[in-house]
Amino acid sequence: MIRVAVAGAAGRMGEAVCAAVEGADDLELTGRADPALGVPLEDVLEGCDVVVDFTRPDTALDNARAALAAGRHVVVGTTGFDIEALRSAAEASPANAFVAPNFAIGAVLLMRFAAEASRHMQRAEIIEYHHAAKLDAPSGTAKRTADLMEGDVPIHSVRLPGLVADQDVILGDVAQTLTLRHVTTDRTSFMPGVLLAVRNVAGLPDRLTVGLERLLWP
Ligand SMILES: NC(=O)c1ccc[n+]([C@@H]2O[C@H](COP(=O)([O-])OP(=O)(O)OC[C@H]3O[C@@H](n4cnc5c(N)ncnc54)[C@H](O)[C@@H]3O)[C@@H](O)[C@H]2O)c1
Repeated sequence: MIRVAVAGAAGRMGEAVCAAVEGADDLELTGRADPALGVPLEDVLEGCDVVVDFTRPDTALDNARAALAAGRHVVVGTTGFDIEALRSAAEASPANAFVAPNFAIGAVLLMRFAAEASRHMQRAEIIEYHHAAKLDAPSGTAKRTADLMEGDVPIHSVRLPGLVADQDVILGDVAQTLTLRHVTTDRTSFMPGVLLAVRNVAGLPDRLTVGLERLLWP
């Protein structure tokens, strides 16, 4: 049994992660930390092996540092914080950190196909669409997609009620365009990826690992 505590447990993603952990035979949900529940992260660190963080850009780094300092592995899905700032904390700790800007397999495949396509077409732009309450723009997925692609790739951010998390990559060349599109209909799309990370974070060769692709095709 891997014992899992969730930071941001009262949030949209946190609630979905708690349900996914509770539904897995090999995982045990040992703690739900969230100011909205009156439970600080420190209160749940003692009884867990892995902390999963889906909180806010301004708290994720401190939460991850606290988990690592306590010797707990950490899986971070929060976007919009400085991932490199986590590296030194991870390297100084006996535990591992795993960070992914997107835990949906379709989004990871889209990033891979976009990187490949960008080598063959003149220019590209990204449009990312998210629910209106998302705090960061552009999205972590869009920034990572652009980083993986060749050339300078502008990003456009749409924030509207009714959306979850979608992304288009549009590539253009002489007399043709190619559109790659990933659409999510609800947050369960992220759960297989989150559970894969929870199950594998302890055995990773590096203290900090970034990107679900590192687990899917190591
Ligand atoms: N990596 C991915 O695949 C993926 C997918 C969806 C969302 N996200 C990201 O996950 C994060 C959370 O998204 P959401 O829609 O669930 O947000 P949300 O606002 O619904 O939930 C965030 C929760 O964190 C809690 N919180 C705030 N400070 C905290 C702290 N110090 N400790 C513990 N909990 C704290 C809040 O009270 C809230 O309940 C965002 O950064 C979002 O971009 C990532």
